[in-house]
Amino acid sequence: MKEPEDRLLRRAAQNGANLSERTPDGRFQEARRCAGRLLSLRWRLASALFLTAVGGLWAQDLPEGPGREETARLCKQCHELARSISLRQDRDGWNATINRMSAFGMKATPKELDAVVDYLAKNYPAEEIPRVNVNTASAIELESGLTLRRSQSAAIIQYREKNGTFKSLDDLKKVPNLDVEKIEAKKDRIAF
Ligand code: HEC
Repeated sequence: MKEPEDRLLRRAAQNGANLSERTPDGRFQEARRCAGRLLSLRWRLASALFLTAVGGLWAQDLPEGPGREETARLCKQCHELARSISLRQDRDGWNATINRMSAFGMKATPKELDAVVDYLAKNYPAEEIPRVNVNTASAIELESGLTLRRSQSAAIIQYREKNGTFKSLDDLKKVPNLDVEKIEAKKDRIAF
């Protein structure tokens, strides 16, 4: 089921070689560098873990929606479909991945590429960073999640232990010596 990596590499190198004739702009180098990364232990470990977790992935396992057929068809030509959807990223990220696959030799019409990018960006979007709940977060979570200094996270914890839960941003701003501007700037990252 898993295509041997040397075959993948060879195919990438072949495709890269074709490509370099058309675009002498260093993309061949990029293709080779990328293909070389295939051998890195980290990737091998990650993909082994991933494939063990997911097992065989079939076209019909992909979420329904426009672009599914194109994605299933194009993205299993050189490696397992599971690898194709192993990333979570925004539209720009998916665009970049698909450009790389084209550089490896993926053949597709512009219309098909648009459909694939739309599909992947919708169904495999960047993971949202969870908000920091100021009523339950530990000192470390407050510091790293809201980039607060230690004294400030301690002040928040002390205040909530004494006064009960925060219900709003205004409650939070009552904490003595808190950098209110910073809290205001981070308000989209805060939950109550
Ligand atoms: C022409 C062959 C080919 C096709 C078709 C292809 N890929 Fe790849 N893909 C590769 C090669 C070669 C690698 C390994 C290189 C590497 O690890 O950088 C790879 C690796 C990947 C990876 C691993 C992470 C990364 O960025 O290297 C992802 C994700 C991926 N492909 C997504 C896709 C998607 C999505 C499609 C369908 C739009 C697709 N691939 C179609 C050749 C292809």
